[in-house]
Amino acid sequence: MPTTLSFVNLKGGVGKTALSVNFAAYCGKKGLKTLLIDTDPQTNATFSCITADAWKKHSADHGTIANIMGMKRHTSADGSEAKAEDVIIEEVFYNVDLLPSHLDLFTIDLDLASTTAREKKLKRALTDVIDDYEMVVCDCPPNLTIPTQNALAMSTHYVVPVSPDFLSALGVGILLSRVQEFCADLEHDLTHVGLILSRVGRPAKHRSEVTADLKKRFKAKVLKTAIRERVVVSQAASENRSVFDMKDKIAIKMFGNCYNELLSKVGVQI
Ligand SMILES: Nc1ncnc2c1ncn2[C@@H]1O[C@H](COP(=O)(O)OP(=O)(O)OP(=O)(O)O)[C@@H](O)[C@H]1O
Ligand SMILES: [Mg+2]
Repeated sequence: MPTTLSFVNLKGGVGKTALSVNFAAYCGKKGLKTLLIDTDPQTNATFSCITADAWKKHSADHGTIANIMGMKRHTSADGSEAKAEDVIIEEVFYNVDLLPSHLDLFTIDLDLASTTAREKKLKRALTDVIDDYEMVVCDCPPNLTIPTQNALAMSTHYVVPVSPDFLSALGVGILLSRVQEFCADLEHDLTHVGLILSRVGRPAKHRSEVTADLKKRFKAKVLKTAIRERVVVSQAASENRSVFDMKDKIAIKMFGNCYNELLSKVGVQI
């Protein structure tokens, strides 16, 4: 099993997608064969890597994560079912393949309601291809429903991006205990890597108080490099590039430092 890192938070808009997509791109650039998995029905990681037209064609011809997780049967002309190797899109960035998402995933909790071992659908579907990769990165939706559970059940590690604002920081404790309970129920070994301070805006008293509180509560679990707001982050996504292919040297250095910390925390040498 390759190192598999999920980006998780119950809170929306804290930078999970931006951090996971760029982390995958960074790993690819550093020579690690990487699989980026979009487990969010919002499909944001997917659209950060490929155009809407490319996605439309690919999902019609080959299917998406929704199909390999057992949503709708996606059959090819010869009548065979969707296979992970067909659904995965190769080289969306250098050394990075993508398992794209689909809006259909929104209803998967209901679709799989009476299915056994539904938390392990994704892991099972990827059995034949997973060993082709040295790093797997999962972008999760802002909840702990079936798609996130599937990401966690196949992950070795998870990290929590958090914005330094009151409401964002509020749910971190609840998230960590819920993930712990989930792993205990599943008898699954999952390491909490830490928290990434993300989307850090202009200095403000309130923000520094929340940051100080997070550092007091979670100590060395808070990564030293905070990710500040940079326009290039959303610009890169809109151009289906990573920040490492843009011209903002400050952003490149900041994301690079953060990812070096992350890689050392998950024990991967580059
Ligand atoms: N460091 C940053 N600087 C500037 N903009 C950012 C940064 N990180 C993320 N963004 C932008 O903020 C918005 C929300 O970020 P993102 O989509 O990564 O959050 P998310 O946690 O994945 O949200 P959701 O929970 O809805 O999936 C996006 O438009 C993204 O481009
Ligand atoms: Mg997201």
